[in-house]
Amino acid sequence: MTDASAPNPMTVDPVPTPRPRGTSLSGVARLQALRDDGRRIVMLTCYDASFAGLCSAVGVDTLLVGDSLGMVIQGESSTVPVTVEQMRYHVACVARGAASAAPPSPVLVADLPFGSYHASPHVAQANAATLMQAGAEVVKVEGAGRDNGWLFEVVAFLVDRGIPVCGHLGLTPQSVAQIGGYRVQGRGDDAAERLLADALALERAGVSMLVLEMVPSALAARITGALRIPTIGIGAGPGCSGQVLVLHDLLGVYPGRKARFVRDFTRDADGTVRGPADAIRAYVDAVRDGSFPAPEHTFD
Ligand code: KIV
Repeated sequence: MTDASAPNPMTVDPVPTPRPRGTSLSGVARLQALRDDGRRIVMLTCYDASFAGLCSAVGVDTLLVGDSLGMVIQGESSTVPVTVEQMRYHVACVARGAASAAPPSPVLVADLPFGSYHASPHVAQANAATLMQAGAEVVKVEGAGRDNGWLFEVVAFLVDRGIPVCGHLGLTPQSVAQIGGYRVQGRGDDAAERLLADALALERAGVSMLVLEMVPSALAARITGALRIPTIGIGAGPGCSGQVLVLHDLLGVYPGRKARFVRDFTRDADGTVRGPADAIRAYVDAVRDGSFPAPEHTFD
């Protein structure tokens, strides 16, 4: 524990990373401007105030308060046990930390957790409002809703009420019990066409951006080319509008098995150890210059 009045070394940025054009815009408009300008969007998961300040200072464009916190913070074996109240708490922590850094703050996206948007559009709206009031600017939902596309109706309901929504297709961790494991999605012609159709339907329903997780690179690039909104890939190759990683994977501290799409940024090419600020900065630079993800992080 340190003196609270002393400057927080986590939020100090000795070499500020230049901000791209469009930073006077806020929220999803800023991310859309980056995509429209052909600039890669840097997203990172974040769960607390200190790392939110640090990520802001090194120029991360958007922070995802992911329900991956169930695994990396709480030690659960999936994201399923995470509640709206737990998400609200972490969103508020991240919002305070991001606000403490020099503007512009990263766009704050928050997961609506398992079961919080399925019962009805009204329930989804109430839970989304809880996360927005805690500081989220966008809420994220997983999947497409196979049963008459129920999720498209939920998305349209939220968007009509002023709530920006991010979709999430491919590997959708909240459905891991149904999918049967963390495996690549969209392989084979039928699955690929369905994923593309779902992405287009989500865009029509009003999502402002789309996460693509564990999708073959060529398919993710095709989906990105077919959409007007930004796509953010994780294990989806370099052809997306941006990239996201789980913070604890980037820092090499998550004890679970390292997925193919993960790169530990805590060592440079010579093996020299980087501290958290330099590791996150290296990730920001690698996404922006297109060197991450490399072929060894992608799926065919
Ligand atoms: O919860 C999360 O961290 C996510 C990312 C893996 C995209 O949804």
